[in-house]
Amino acid sequence: MDRQMRTVEFSHTEWMKCIQYEDINGSGRLFGGRLMQWMDEVAGITATRHCGSYVTTAAVDNLTFKKGAFINEIVVIIGRMTYVGRSSMEVRVDVYAEDRKTGNRQVINRAYFTEVCVNEDGKPVPVEYGLELVSEVEKAEWEGAKKRIEIRRKRRAEGY
Ligand SMILES: CC(C)(COP(=O)(O)OP(=O)(O)OC[C@H]1O[C@@H](n2cnc3c(N)ncnc32)[C@H](O)[C@@H]1OP(=O)(O)O)[C@@H](O)C(=O)NCCC(=O)NCCS
Repeated sequence: MDRQMRTVEFSHTEWMKCIQYEDINGSGRLFGGRLMQWMDEVAGITATRHCGSYVTTAAVDNLTFKKGAFINEIVVIIGRMTYVGRSSMEVRVDVYAEDRKTGNRQVINRAYFTEVCVNEDGKPVPVEYGLELVSEVEKAEWEGAKKRIEIRRKRRAEGY
């Protein structure tokens, strides 16, 4: 497919939130469902910025809760494009808790979202822009995405 290119940096998205009482679950930690909602929003915004069109979330992979987060902590969510297919895009979402004194960031969650570029009727349409890979890390993420896509295809074929 011959298309114009956009870099990973072009759609790089960083979003922050201070955890409030309404974000906390019964055990005093950040509610996982709330965090997944924020991650989904960041993934959608990242993919929208890349393709310049509507997107919908098709799948979420490797969602891993590594650590809890607590009231008044600052949560930083970063979305980066890793792969562009015909109509689908993969976005890596990393979540950090940021120490308010030092600014140090600790990873608390990570996932890979598959976003599909759709028209106003919700039907998949081709992504107009390819992904220009600049760094070795970006090239490694692209190769990783190809493996994940293969695993997803197998899973779908086997019906789970
Ligand atoms: C996502 C959706 C638009 C795909 O439609 P579809 O008719 O299955 O389309 P296709 O089979 O042509 O797939 C389109 C692309 O999505 C990818 N895709 C579809 N389902 C997928 C899945 N479960 N996991 C990973 N990729 C998927 C396909 O591999 C294809 O990629 P490509 O064009 O880059 O090769 C459709 O399944 C849908 O609307 N799902 C509901 C989305 C939703 O409501 N999300 C939650 C709210 S945001």
